[in-house]
Amino acid sequence: MITIKSIFKEIYKHKRILIVANVVAIISTLIILPVPLLIPMLIDEIILGKSGQITELIDKFITVESAGYYILIVLIVTIVAKAVSLLLNLLHIRLYTKVSKEVIYVIRKRLLNHLQIVSMKEYDMLGSGSVSAKLITDIETVDKFVSSAVGAIVVEFLTLVGISIVILTLNWQLALIILLLNPLALSFYMHIFKIVAKIKKRENQAIEQFQNFLTESLELYNQIRVQNREKFFFQEIDKRAKEIRDRGYNFSLKSEMALEISRMLITYSHDIFRAVGIFMVLIGALSIGKMLAIFGYAWIIMRPVDKLMNFVHLYLNAKSSVERLNEILALDVEPKYPPKVNPFKDSVTASIELKNVSFSYDGESEVLSNINLFIDAGEKVAIVGETGSGKSTLAQILIGLYPISKGEMFYNGHEVREIGYEIIRENVGFVLQAPLMFNNTLRFNLTLGKKYQDKEIYEALKVAQLDTFVKSLSKGLDTIVGKNGTKLSGGQRQRLSIARVLLDNPKVIIFDESTSSLDTETETKLLDALDEYIKDKTVITIAHRASSIARANRVIDLNKL
Ligand SMILES: Nc1ncnc2c1ncn2[C@@H]1O[C@H](COP(=O)(O)OP(=O)(O)OP(=O)(O)O)[C@@H](O)[C@H]1O
Ligand SMILES: [Mg+2]
Repeated sequence: MITIKSIFKEIYKHKRILIVANVVAIISTLIILPVPLLIPMLIDEIILGKSGQITELIDKFITVESAGYYILIVLIVTIVAKAVSLLLNLLHIRLYTKVSKEVIYVIRKRLLNHLQIVSMKEYDMLGSGSVSAKLITDIETVDKFVSSAVGAIVVEFLTLVGISIVILTLNWQLALIILLLNPLALSFYMHIFKIVAKIKKRENQAIEQFQNFLTESLELYNQIRVQNREKFFFQEIDKRAKEIRDRGYNFSLKSEMALEISRMLITYSHDIFRAVGIFMVLIGALSIGKMLAIFGYAWIIMRPVDKLMNFVHLYLNAKSSVERLNEILALDVEPKYPPKVNPFKDSVTASIELKNVSFSYDGESEVLSNINLFIDAGEKVAIVGETGSGKSTLAQILIGLYPISKGEMFYNGHEVREIGYEIIRENVGFVLQAPLMFNNTLRFNLTLGKKYQDKEIYEALKVAQLDTFVKSLSKGLDTIVGKNGTKLSGGQRQRLSIARVLLDNPKVIIFDESTSSLDTETETKLLDALDEYIKDKTVITIAHRASSIARANRVIDLNKL
């Protein structure tokens, strides 16, 4: 689970850089801290003619002929000090930004790593839009907090302490006014912002719902158009967009209100403080120069106070975003079995055995009950059964997409839990009943990122009876197939998904209704070409059509098992 504490632990790993960054920032602050004192002090020393530290200090180094030079020197010192401080500050920003982006990357990576191993059951329920909303919107919220946490907080706090000390030494009575009133405004702000953070969470939820619905509608846009339902779907999307508008308005309004009211409380404290300052000059308890210097500090103290307020705001928002990110980590993962044996190694193919296998998707009604089945190595079996009887389910459990609830499965006599699903999926090819395509090139859809020579790809395409088609395309393998392969015919998509599996040269192959869209002539050609390819492999063909199962050594009726 991600917590604010775990984020800080992650930040702490970069303590070296952060120490350097903070030392740089502290030096920058120390340089800038006395600057507001300089010019106002000159009023006392030059205009009001009191002896003072600044003119004395300058006299030690050079002989100044007229008072105007003191002003010039102080001005130059002020300008240089501010420039040096800025340069150091930029270095500070560079260092802490690197750390904060790294920390955010680690969090994002952790979530992605988890998604990679989430079980299929969870994927069935998962909205891709809502996951991406979390990985973008909520991560961004956390990012702002982390940047603030590693960048500003230590320095701003120290600045606050530094300024407080300076003001206290200048005049402690006045200092107390400002030092007591500011925290009061801050605590008011914290209180209000706890409420506002809840509104932020609601805004992020609205973004998630919008994104989820939008992504799904765009993915299924063909279906929506076919059924003439675009009006309804866009109305639904619009409803969610309005929700973001309303919740976003609510959040922005309330957070700005809280911020502005707190700022006003702080400026009130300044007004009181200024009035008291002038009064103290009036009764002779304070010099005009010092008063102006304190006014200057009272102004600069706003910055750290503002930053601290902002930090509180970001902290509370980040807390609710972290909760939403944890919803990803709470998704169940696929059971992982460390591989102990590899039954496919050194063998051309494998036998398959199921002993008393039962399976249920929802944990209640069983789709497969007590299945016992033995398929010998190299055997070609066809599995038939009425629609919905569980043929595709059987294929999916064979490659471990869903864990079985009862029983045992063996490849070459080794139980799947000894083998591990990674090895099984590497060696058992599965041509899905409803294959999916990326809106990318034919090459990418065939290789899914693995490296294959064009020659190998064309060999697989040849068996799948798709080589002539691909060759006829002006861009060949680099042709983009469109969203979900819409630029291909149903039969071309099926053949592409067959070629995709053949390319990996699996030792066992499961075809799930893989030739159902082909005309009988093409199907015959494909099966002929396939015969040679699958000669030594164990093959399971799931099909309804007689022509697809005619070549099997054995036909298994799932209903009769
Ligand atoms: N991912 C899933 N989650 C929950 N239930 C599912 C899931 N996939 C399939 N089912 C259910 O399991 C049962 C078997 O489905 P399956 O797809 O295995 O049938 P099939 O024999 O392949 O049918 P067809 O011949 O129509 O392809 C069906 O009742 C279906 O509703
Ligand atoms: Mg099926």
